[in-house]
Amino acid sequence: MVRAVSNAQLLQSNLELVVSRDPDLMQIFYTTLFERYPSVQPLFGRNSRDEQAKMLTEAVAMLVSKVDDPQFVETTMLAVGRKHVDYGVEDHMYAWVGECLVATLAQVSGEDWNDALEDGWTATLEAISAIAIQGAAAERAERATQPATS
Ligand code: HEM
Repeated sequence: MVRAVSNAQLLQSNLELVVSRDPDLMQIFYTTLFERYPSVQPLFGRNSRDEQAKMLTEAVAMLVSKVDDPQFVETTMLAVGRKHVDYGVEDHMYAWVGECLVATLAQVSGEDWNDALEDGWTATLEAISAIAIQGAAAERAERATQPATS
C-alpha cells in the first residue's frame, strides 16, 4: 500500500540529491534497463530518449512529492497503467523498471545510499506499480467487453 511509505521526505531529498548530482540520471536508467532487459527496448521510440528521460524524471518527482496523498497517487497510477497498455507494457515489466530505477538511484547516490533508501524506494515503486497493474487490468477488461472499432 502507498500508505506504507512514511518516508516521503527521505525519498524526496534523495531524488533532489541525485538530480543535482547528475541531471541526466535517467540515461543511466535506460542503459541499465536495456542491458538487463533488452526485450523492452522495442517498446520505446515514440519520443526521443531525452524527452522520455525528462518525462520519467518529472513523473517520479511528482509522485514522490505526492506520496503522502494516496488519492492522487492512485488516480495518477491507474491512468499510467491504462495508458501503458497501448505502449505494449506487460505487468511483469513493472518489476524490471523498479529494479533498474533503484539501481540507478543507488549508483548516482554512491556513498549516500543506505538500506532505508533501498527499502523506501523499493516499497514505493512496488506500491505504485501495483496500482498501475490494476489500471492495466481494468483497461484490458473494458476492451475485452467492447466491440472492436476497427
Ligand atoms: C513506475 C511506473 C511508471 C511510470 C511512473 C511511468 C511513467 C511514464 C511517463 C510519464 C511516460 C510519458 C508518456 C505518458 O505519460 O504516457 C511514459 C511512457 C512510456 N513508458 Fe512508462 N512509466 C512507468 C512504467 C513503465 C514500464 C514498466 C514500462 C515497460 C518497459 C514503461 C514503458 C513506457 C513506454 C514504452 C513509454 C512510451 C515512450 C516512448 O515511446 O517514447 N513504463 N511512462
